[in-house]
Amino acid sequence: MSLQFKLQPANKISGEIRVPGDKSVSHRSIMFGSIAEGTTHVTGFLEGEDSLNTLRAFKAMGVEIEGPVDGKVTIHGVGMHGLKKPTTTLDMGNSGTSMRLLSGLLSGQAFDLELAGDASLTKRPMKRVTDPLALMGAKVDTAEGGRPPLKIHGGSKMKGIHYDMPMASAQVKSCLLLAGMYAEGETSVVEPAPTRDHTERMLTAFGYPVKTVNNKMSLQGGGKLIACDIDVPTDISSAAFFMVMGAIAKDSDILIKHVGINPTRTGVIDILKLMGANLTLENEQEVGGEPVADIRVKSSHLKGIHVPEELVPLAIDEFPVLFVAAACAEGQTIVTGAEELRVKESDRIQVMADGLVALGVDATATDDGMVINGGTIKSGTVNSHDDHRIAMAFSVASLGAEGEIVIDDCDNVNTSFPTFVELANLVGLNLTTNS
Ligand code: S3P
Repeated sequence: MSLQFKLQPANKISGEIRVPGDKSVSHRSIMFGSIAEGTTHVTGFLEGEDSLNTLRAFKAMGVEIEGPVDGKVTIHGVGMHGLKKPTTTLDMGNSGTSMRLLSGLLSGQAFDLELAGDASLTKRPMKRVTDPLALMGAKVDTAEGGRPPLKIHGGSKMKGIHYDMPMASAQVKSCLLLAGMYAEGETSVVEPAPTRDHTERMLTAFGYPVKTVNNKMSLQGGGKLIACDIDVPTDISSAAFFMVMGAIAKDSDILIKHVGINPTRTGVIDILKLMGANLTLENEQEVGGEPVADIRVKSSHLKGIHVPEELVPLAIDEFPVLFVAAACAEGQTIVTGAEELRVKESDRIQVMADGLVALGVDATATDDGMVINGGTIKSGTVNSHDDHRIAMAFSVASLGAEGEIVIDDCDNVNTSFPTFVELANLVGLNLTTNS
């Protein structure tokens, strides 16, 4: 039986919480620690299914990894050429980041292997990585329509390329930079808009120089990584659910501690502030090369806006919950330039529009976004389509709702936020499950 959430309306949000570690940084800490020379100690690692799938994949390729125990992981790096052929297909589960980054990192290895995923990942586009990888000399086969599973043929002689990315995607950028470490000469990528830069920051921390000039990132092949300690900040994408709770609840004062505020991730803060949220940053500091802060949110009266398109890639994972904020705001919110939402863990434009309409909200999906006329959220049943962020976003909607909200297929909340139910109830949501 799949996990179901049931939420009764609530009005008050309060308390101090710390959300789990950043998913993007957690994935990269395992990948880079595994191919580094020496022992890497990670703290604050996200013990969610997505990052655990990356961890299991490297164990299956012969890397000795201890933990995670309370967010601590120790990785005994095997060096750039020390990975071993896994005996089975590597299962990436629901994780697009694992599959896309590993397709780059592994196409320069000496052995053949296969990467597969769950039903959701198997529908997601992979040509965006396999096309440029082919230009580098990699041999990666996809299933029909450019979908997973991916069959990577080892032993390719890779050469650096210059690549103008057709879409703003940190996964494509990272895939090519990781492949570039195994290629001859320089690999450079140009992005059409800034995307999260954790790969560039963390490779540099591991002693592998990445040059960033405006929107172009480049590195030279043939270098090596030296182990280092990684302190993973907490995930702003998980904190976003609590920011919106604070912004829409009638009576709220919540402090979300130690949140990663890397400027390539803070679009959600900017968008909520433009909508009139009472949100302040406290105690800003730098931890292990990433900026963090405590975020305080108090009740506010949100108003609809046309979300500036340049903020879209900087808030790409936060739109499900931002659509809920828009449903509770006064007036119209318009989102454009967000077509990438259609190829996430679910089609987040359609699935969110359908769910909002089921709850009585005036929401219309468009090709590249949504138009939402704020008003009342009624009661009803929505389907998360196995997408973690859809399940959590509709849980937040209970704060503005007139009656019960039931959310089906919530198991995948475990991919990014295993303690969501506990923390949501702690701050004031009224959430029960069938488990
Ligand atoms: C991620 C990049 C983003 C994001 C995903 C994590 C990463 O995907 O949606 O959750 O860690 O690089 P795209 O690069 O496909 O936009």
